[in-house]
Amino acid sequence: MKYSKTFGQWYDFLMQFLEKPYLRHRRARLLSGLSGRILEVGAGTGINFVHYNDNTEIIGIEPSPWMIRQAAERKRQSALGNRIVLHQTGCGDPALYEMMEENSLDYVVCTLVLCTIPDAEGALRDFMRWLKPGGQLVVLEHIRSHNKHTGRLQDALRPVWAKIADGCQLNRPTDRMIAEAGFIPVRQEWFRVGIPFYEGVFEKH
Ligand SMILES: C[S@@+](CC[C@H](N)C(=O)[O-])C[C@H]1O[C@@H](n2cnc3c(N)ncnc32)[C@H](O)[C@@H]1O
Repeated sequence: MKYSKTFGQWYDFLMQFLEKPYLRHRRARLLSGLSGRILEVGAGTGINFVHYNDNTEIIGIEPSPWMIRQAAERKRQSALGNRIVLHQTGCGDPALYEMMEENSLDYVVCTLVLCTIPDAEGALRDFMRWLKPGGQLVVLEHIRSHNKHTGRLQDALRPVWAKIADGCQLNRPTDRMIAEAGFIPVRQEWFRVGIPFYEGVFEKH
């Protein structure tokens, strides 16, 4: 995409204004207690790595060469570096399906990524298959507003936003999509960071 390189290179700089005040403590709460085999989808610049504990084995997938380069540097600096394996791939890439096995994951972590994966519904079906029975999907995401006026504004802004933000869909109803995919909510919270956001933990049925 046209601005992929710029987005990848500026992502951490731009996100710092949201991370510390609004998102960092949510990432820590969602990730610090996880253990076992974890697929982190769209690991980006590796911003989550600092939150995992040493009872984890993390498979990080990230299609953007500009993002994964920074994730590799974060992995190198992390005390957990040898527990993180990075692959330059993403949902929808046949190479990913060769790597993954059914009922093999304890957790799938998706932070700010279900908004960008082109076929998010297909990805959710894949996560359901790859999770072990009782395995969990962990999500932090912005979503389409439940207020119809704000939702329409998001619809209107979506095309420009997607161009600037490397395919991110501002109006995606990810909370609804997760429910429709059949995941069982363990904990969910709706909140706002300017736009509507959502965090949750869901179990494979
Ligand atoms: C907004 S960034 C979020 C990065 C990181 N997860 C975070 O929490 O900051 C969206 C990420 O999704 C990645 N992405 C895009 N398409 C993807 C796909 N099909 N599968 C997995 N990740 C994808 C992008 O390259 C980018 O790193």
